[in-house]
Amino acid sequence: MIRVAAVGDVHVDADVVGRYRPALEQLGDCADVLLLAGDLTRHGTVAEAKCVATEFGGLPVPVVAVLGNHDYHSDQPAEVTAVLEDAGITVLECSGTVLTVGGTRLGIAGAKGFGGGFAGRCASDFGEPETKAFIRTTQRIAECLGTTLRSLECDVLVALTHYAPVPDTLAGEPLEIYPFLGSYLLGQAIDSAPTALAVHGHAHAGTERGITPGGVRVRNVAHPVIKQAYSVFHLGEQLETKALSATGSAR
Ligand SMILES: [Fe+2]
Ligand SMILES: [Fe+2]
Repeated sequence: MIRVAAVGDVHVDADVVGRYRPALEQLGDCADVLLLAGDLTRHGTVAEAKCVATEFGGLPVPVVAVLGNHDYHSDQPAEVTAVLEDAGITVLECSGTVLTVGGTRLGIAGAKGFGGGFAGRCASDFGEPETKAFIRTTQRIAECLGTTLRSLECDVLVALTHYAPVPDTLAGEPLEIYPFLGSYLLGQAIDSAPTALAVHGHAHAGTERGITPGGVRVRNVAHPVIKQAYSVFHLGEQLETKALSATGSAR
């Protein structure tokens, strides 16, 4: 059994530093890895990334992250990534990593993802160049997520994104903004591999649980949704638990 802790949308800045740390110090007791599902900062500045590094660096378990749209806002995703990597956090973008936990290989494929909407109500590769650029961005990211998922040599496979792969976990959000919250193409990518669990964030007003058309469990771990420092998922058996420690709202 592998214990995967996850949270997204922590939106750390100087005011938030210290809010998650007490719960994080106990991670080694209940989890083997921590996944961060993007929107680690508020505005994607290097100063905020340093706050994330302070909060999530040096933990007793490996930390694997993807960035979110907020982390791109200052047009410095490479700089933000470098600060996080310097703190020992693995940042994935259309890439993967394999961790060995008690002799079991845990593969994690990560990508920020993008919008576009869901089957029957989605943007298409048609019309103005701006529209085509939008959906082609999603297509590119979904394709590389699928390629990464299929290429990892591991025993248990997890997909980590910021944007949602299914509409289930958006329930509670206005229907009008679903195309900006995720894409069914991410779900198709997840279903193209033997994925055990898909975690995402971004939908602060969404719902925790969903499932892809192929039957993969999807969990929205946005902090405003799970209302605690992190959730813990037990893979290898059909058991799911939550961590104990709540924090205040991150935004
Ligand atoms: Fe967010
Ligand atoms: Fe977001």
